[in-house]
Amino acid sequence: MTQRTQQAPPEQQAQQAQPIELRHVVVAGAAGFIGSAYARNFVAWHPRTRITVVDKLTYAGNPENLAPLSANPNFAFVQTDICDYDAVAPLIADADAVVNFAAESHVDRSIYDPDVFVRTNVLGVNTLLRAAKEAWSDALARGETRRFVQVSTDEVYGHVAEGASGEDAPLKPRNPYSAAKAGGDLLAFSYFTNYGLPVMVTRGANTIGPYQYPEKATPLFITNAIEDKPLPIYGEGKAVRHYLYVDDHAAAIDLVLHQGEPGQAYNIGPEHSELNTVQLATRILDYLGKPHSLIRFVPDRPGHDYRYSLDSAKVRHLGWAQRYDLDHTLEATVAWYMEEPNWWRKIKSGEYREYYERQYGKALATA
Ligand code: NAD
Ligand code: TYD
Repeated sequence: MTQRTQQAPPEQQAQQAQPIELRHVVVAGAAGFIGSAYARNFVAWHPRTRITVVDKLTYAGNPENLAPLSANPNFAFVQTDICDYDAVAPLIADADAVVNFAAESHVDRSIYDPDVFVRTNVLGVNTLLRAAKEAWSDALARGETRRFVQVSTDEVYGHVAEGASGEDAPLKPRNPYSAAKAGGDLLAFSYFTNYGLPVMVTRGANTIGPYQYPEKATPLFITNAIEDKPLPIYGEGKAVRHYLYVDDHAAAIDLVLHQGEPGQAYNIGPEHSELNTVQLATRILDYLGKPHSLIRFVPDRPGHDYRYSLDSAKVRHLGWAQRYDLDHTLEATVAWYMEEPNWWRKIKSGEYREYYERQYGKALATA
């Protein structure tokens, strides 16, 4: 782990590379939470660039997240698995960039069923990288622009007892989700080193905002609180996370896509946004005017990483600035779930119930 506390001075932050203009970007996994925010923003940020979303539509993928794009002539959707080379290769061959959000993304599910995490987060990433390498080798040899962003997570650094992880900190993932994501990161860099594929890896902090599947702590706590159901807190609730607003995360990924340096990793973490789980739950209950007695302590997550913390000086130096502070991030997130009950109530009445019962049923009954 490296300690970097110094931010780039403002005059340095202002010196950005000239942005490149892309013709067609394939965005994998954008029917999920962060990818759909990226796609919804992308059409406004880059009105002349085509965007093709590829997504398998697992339990976490929801076409409703992309509904605002359905009439946009620059937008296309293809339902496919990123492990299916024959399906993704022609799409990538027609594109000049790939941004890969597709992943199995939930730690608790990975502890219960790791195999699918290795398949998508390692084999799937390799499939996209191989398709890009094979499709783009001639264009790259001619000096044409091609870009590949692998979206990863702060969780690859594992538990960080103190200080903050710089991009060169050792990867010490401790659960099947983060171990598989670390595998994806390393594969991505191996394509840069061995084949010259212009790959960048982003490692974002815990992200919250609209359209997040209600299995992650924040949307689970908000929707349970709205329904006057208990908020299950693992262990003593002292685990710390930094909470980043989804549009800020999307903006940083887009900056790395257009201006990042190939072969580099970029941490994306907010400042002054550290909360432990009890503080997160309490803030949510207070916003909603619900009693703190809804908090229930349940057995801890095995291998729980008690703290993540990122040094994000590098992406700030590239020109990223967070627009949402912690208050704004929480307020906007809680407000959206209050305004859009149809979106999450539909989810909570489906496959989710089975998952919820398995994950919390016994623990909550005895809490
Ligand atoms: P999500 O679970 O909401 O969305 C994942 C999407 O990937 C879904 O639409 C799903 O259908 C799709 N997908 C899954 N397997 C697929 C496959 N084999 N082929 C094609 N599509 C497939 O996840 P998210 O929270 O939006 O996270 C997106 C990315 O950002 C992930 O790579 C995750 O590791 C990373 N990340 C997430 C967070 C966070 O706090 N949520 C923080 C940092 C990084
Ligand atoms: P989560 O949203 O699953 O993200 P992460 O991948 O960072 O673990 O969980 C955020 C924190 O909240 C983490 O410390 C685990 C904790 N947590 C609970 O206490 N109860 C819950 O029901 C969930 C889902 C998470």
